[in-house]
Formats: sequence, C-alpha cells, structure tokens
Amino acid sequence: MKNIAVIGSGYVGLVTGTCFADLGNSVICVDINEERVHDLQNGIMPIYEPGLEEMVRRNIAAGRIRFTTSYADALNDTAKPAELVFIAVNTPMGVDGEAELRYVRSAAESIAKTMDHSLVIINKSTVPVGTGDWVSDIVKNTQPTPIPFSVVSNPEFLREGAAITDFMAPDRVVLGSLNEEAAQRVAQLYLPLRGPIMITDLRTAEMIKYASNAFLATKISFINEIANICEALGADVKEVAAGMGYDKRIGRAFLDAGLGYGGSCFPKDVKALAHMANVQGKHPQLLEAVMMINTDARRLIVSKVRNLIGNNGTHLNRLEGRTIGVLGLAFKANTDDIRESQPIDIIRMLQADGAKVQAYDPVAMKNASQLLQNVRLCEDTYEAIAGCDAVILATEWNEFKNLDLERMHKLMRTPVVIDGRNLYDPQAMSAAGFIYRGVGRGYATAN
Ligand SMILES: NC(=O)c1ccc[n+]([C@@H]2O[C@H](COP(=O)([O-])OP(=O)(O)OC[C@H]3O[C@@H](n4cnc5c(N)ncnc54)[C@H](O)[C@@H]3O)[C@@H](O)[C@H]2O)c1
Repeated sequence: MKNIAVIGSGYVGLVTGTCFADLGNSVICVDINEERVHDLQNGIMPIYEPGLEEMVRRNIAAGRIRFTTSYADALNDTAKPAELVFIAVNTPMGVDGEAELRYVRSAAESIAKTMDHSLVIINKSTVPVGTGDWVSDIVKNTQPTPIPFSVVSNPEFLREGAAITDFMAPDRVVLGSLNEEAAQRVAQLYLPLRGPIMITDLRTAEMIKYASNAFLATKISFINEIANICEALGADVKEVAAGMGYDKRIGRAFLDAGLGYGGSCFPKDVKALAHMANVQGKHPQLLEAVMMINTDARRLIVSKVRNLIGNNGTHLNRLEGRTIGVLGLAFKANTDDIRESQPIDIIRMLQADGAKVQAYDPVAMKNASQLLQNVRLCEDTYEAIAGCDAVILATEWNEFKNLDLERMHKLMRTPVVIDGRNLYDPQAMSAAGFIYRGVGRGYATAN
C-alpha cells in the first residue's frame, strides 16, 4: 500500500486515482477547479465514464480516496505523506500545434513550493519529448530549499469509454526515468495488474506515447483513404477492412472508415509530434497527410449531404431550407467528451451552408450545448429525426445501431441517411426505402 497524490482530476487523473485506490492504495486527488472537487467529494462525477461513479463512491466509503484543492493537504498529510505524485493535468493544443504546457508548469511549481519531503514525481500527461527534464529543472529552481526528488515519465494509454478496463488490464505500462530506483518504485504500483512493464529512459517513454497515438491515427486515415478509393471503384471498405484484418501483421483494430479521429488526444498529439519534428528541421510528411485526410473525412460527409439534398445556391445557402438531423455529438461512443468532436465540426459546416440542424446524443448534450449555437437539441433519437431532409449518423452509440427503420422513414421529410460510422447494411437500407450513403461502400452506391 502506497500513499499517492494525483494532480488533476479529469479523465486520466480521476481514473488513475480511483483505480490505484481500488488496488488498496491511499490516494488524494488535487484539482484547481473548486466546483469539480466539491462535486467529487459528494460522489458526483465531472465526466461520463462507464463504471467510474460506482468505483469512486466505493473507495470514498472505504476511506481510500479523497479530493482536495490544496497541494499541502495532498502532499504533506501528516498521517499519510505522499510518496508518489502523479501529474495528470491537461495539455491542450497550443499555437502552431505545439502542446500547451502551462498547466504542467503550474503543477510542477506548486509541487516544488509545497513538498516538505522527498518525492517521486510521475508525469502522466502527454507531453513533448524533453518535458521530463524541463519539469525537473522547474522543480529544482522553484523549491525554497533543496529536497531530493526524481521524475518518471509514465504515459497513459487508456481510452475514454473503456478507461477503467484499460487501466486495470493494460497492454503495457511504460516507465521512463534517469533514476532506475524511482522507476522501480512506480513499477511496484502496477505489479498487481500483471501487465508487461517496460522501463526505459525519460525521452523514449515520452516518445512512445506520441508514436503510438500517431500510428493509430495513421491507421484511421489510411482506411479513410482506402474508403475514398473504394467509393470511386465500387468496392466495399467494410469488407476490405475485414479481409485485411485477418492478417496478423495488420490487425482489424482501428480500420473503421468513417468520420476520422476526434477527441482530446489524437488530433492534438499528431499535431504536436509534427510540430516537434518541424522544430528539429524534419519534414513529417506522413503525419501531414494523416491530418489532411482526417479533415477531409468531415468535409466529405457534408459533400454527400449537399450532393443528395442541396440546391444550386452559393456556399452560403446550398442547404437553405433543409433540416438535418445529427445523431451523436460526442467524438465517439461511451463518452461525453466533445473536444475536437467530428459531429460538432460537421454541424458547423452544415450551418454555414444554411441548413437547420437538430441533434441528439445520449450523454454529450450538456457539453455540446456550450459549444453549439442555433441547434435544436432534442430529447431523443426520433425527435431528432422527425421532419428531416437528411439524417447523419455521427456517433456509434449502441442505441443508434438498431433504429426502427419504418418509424424513421415515416418521420422524415425525405428518407436520406448518411451513415458516418457504417452502422447499417446498405442493401437493407435501400430495401427499407432509404437513400443511403455510408463511407467507402462503393458497391452500395454503384447499385
Ligand atoms: N482523455 C484521454 O483519453 C487521455 C488518454 C491518455 C492520455 N491523456 C493525456 O492525459 C492528460 C490529461 O488529460 P485529461 O483528458 O484527463 O484532461 P482533463 O481536461 O479531463 O483534466 C485535467 C484536469 O486537470 C486540472 N488541472 C489543470 N491544471 C491544474 C493544476 N495546476 N493543478 C491541479 N489541477 C489542475 C483541470 O482542472 C482538470 O480537471 C493530457 O495530457 C492528455 O493528453 C488523455
């Protein structure tokens, strides 16, 4: 059992702290957002993540986790002084695509000013290569009196929507440090999970995170490029992906053509990696192409809508007088995260063309309402479909996978369905009377 402090109680910090508490450790989570901390103290979750609320409440009741806004409270608890402190603050996209490190800097400074005993500082935020050394310098230069500490990089690989399972059954745990003993102390925490633990140097650990996310993003853009070609040549990308996926060297994961990647990680991480390369005078051509294909995936959906129900107006009124239903606002299913959400981008493009938009998402409506203007947010799926000239399936929520097609057809003004996630069978949709377009389903379009 270890005493752990976690700085930042968002998707990563809250899941990390809660899972470590569930493994029997004593955890204190710090956040600068007072409302968030107050809610957490009362068992109210700031984010939607399956299984999280129950786990947080259970560990609060067992006295293994608590929440505070005070670094002193978290680090220097007299009964349980922290031995290990995780930094899990946000690192959003900054200017030029560079990762914004001001929250990491502030966390490192606060730790340095507050710590009254030796600590291992573990960076879980996704940060540019070299940040571990930078954090080390910040702590050293900010401490009022020198107190020994070590810095370990421990990038996080969890997926929103499956965060607890991913944390508890990791494919690997990566630890990077110049201090082998500090890395071993962090490794001890992960032993109960029985996953492979890789110990390397700081910079390599930081790079593993970027390279992994960039590779997954590349797979997504690759299959979207193939989808585009499939549409032109009359092949079906779903079958192509299935056929490719049987090859163990390729694998089926991340070969779903659709709206491209979104969310708080891939867009910013691919951009940040390209930025790091550019700064070093390298030319990350593959990463540039990955990003361009990803932007196009969103545009192509809007083009399909225009081609099917658009009028001949200018770009400002190509969809004037049309009502479009959008099913899903989160960037993927099982999360309420709308950062870099593809559906939200698509809605803005539709609105720029003069369309009226009505939308529904099972959990992301509250977050989306803060970003969207002039969108009718509906109570349920069928309200969002009613009276539409076209419906876009934008997030692969389970509840959109088995819609009542007859009811849907009756409710729509014109039965046009653009399936951005390839949830439906093109033949079945045609048979049910819909004008249906998926992504890369060339066979269906040609027939
Ligand atoms: N969300 C994911 O799926 C995911 C997966 C892997 C890695 N990551 C990385 O993990 C990091 C955290 O991401 P997230 O999605 O959890 O972010 P988030 O925005 O959900 O949460 C960050 C939290 O940190 C708090 N915070 C900011 N500055 C602080 C400070 N100085 N002291 C205390 N608290 C502070 C914020 O108030 C917020 O609650 C990022 O670097 C991200 O790239 C995220």
